[in-house]
Amino acid sequence: MNQHLRAESIPFIDIAAQRRRLGPAVEEAVARVLAHCQFINGPEVAALEAALAAFSGARHVVTCASGTDALIMVLMAKGVGRGDAVLCPSFTFCATGEAVALTGAVPVFVDVDEATFNIDAASLTRGIATARRLGLKPRGVIPVDLFGQSADHDAVIAVAEAEGLFVLDDAAQAFGASYKGRRLGGMGLITATSFFPAKPLGCYGDGGAIFTDDGAFAETLRSVRVHGQGSDKYDNVRLGLTGRLDTIQAAVLIEKLKIFDDEIAARNKVAERYAQGLGNVVAVPRLAGGNTSVWAQYTIRLPEGTDRDAFAAALKSQGVPTAIYYPKSMHQQTAYKAFPVADGGLAACERLSADVISLPMHAYLDEASQDRIIQAVRGFFNA
Ligand SMILES: Cc1ncc(COP(=O)(O)O)c(C=O)c1O
Repeated sequence: MNQHLRAESIPFIDIAAQRRRLGPAVEEAVARVLAHCQFINGPEVAALEAALAAFSGARHVVTCASGTDALIMVLMAKGVGRGDAVLCPSFTFCATGEAVALTGAVPVFVDVDEATFNIDAASLTRGIATARRLGLKPRGVIPVDLFGQSADHDAVIAVAEAEGLFVLDDAAQAFGASYKGRRLGGMGLITATSFFPAKPLGCYGDGGAIFTDDGAFAETLRSVRVHGQGSDKYDNVRLGLTGRLDTIQAAVLIEKLKIFDDEIAARNKVAERYAQGLGNVVAVPRLAGGNTSVWAQYTIRLPEGTDRDAFAAALKSQGVPTAIYYPKSMHQQTAYKAFPVADGGLAACERLSADVISLPMHAYLDEASQDRIIQAVRGFFNA
């Protein structure tokens, strides 16, 4: 294509469009923090925790410095460590298994369901047996709500209850989504999320939160968040970390939460248009019954035999960016190859890593831009 005629590139995620919509509200919120100077644990932190509890239905919300810290803090508060096994899907962002390994415990990788990309309960059961065979004590399971859609929590809970495991829901990509009518975070599970800027609800730096209905556990998390503090911060009763969310990020999130429902609706419209426009040329994502999604990613699967690199290059030449989440599952990564995988192997994770690709997805994707994306995909397949 002639360089001069090259189409303008469509943003993969448009944080600037959201910034324009929020207008001076964010500046004013940040200015209030700059005026009161309580940069750590300012009043906005407690206000955000209350707003997140009201939004999700959770009894207690403990904000923290990142989604990774949210996972680590829960595992530390549960006393997970050497000799323990925590099961998690392999087709996920590395932080899920990394948090387990950092505690000294062993992540045991489990396969996923190819239709939803989420943890497969049958493989979870096999993974628990694998862990025991290796002399490990299975302590917990971390289902991940990948790409914005809830995992099959009833199936996971059934296995966890039968085996005496705790469940830590990694909802880093799915805060705002619901499972059988209840929002993630508000269904009684310990739930962790991330406010990384590209997440459906993101701040302007790093941030995260933990949701729980258990008041005593929330108190333990608050202690872990500040170096394991007891009656005051120079009384240290357990190991902890510096895991606090900055007041400025809390102030930003309070403003963003006000438009979040509207953004979720817009994301769902984009997803519906993709499904209509692309459903007969590629495998479009499927929502399991009872689920809503916040569409952190819109991830398609290419027909067998498609050259994924050629597909991405063809779209790029038309100004359509793509991304591959995740080209390697965790058990295929250098840092994690030595950790065990569930008996029976992880064939679905490996197939997905080979054929998925994600298209631009955000609440501000206008119909004309989306039509260009749809045409670019269809054009590649001469459809
Ligand atoms: C599934 C999953 N878990 C955990 C995390 C970690 O979140 P953070 O980047 O805020 O540490 C992410 C973030 O990308 C994620 O996608």
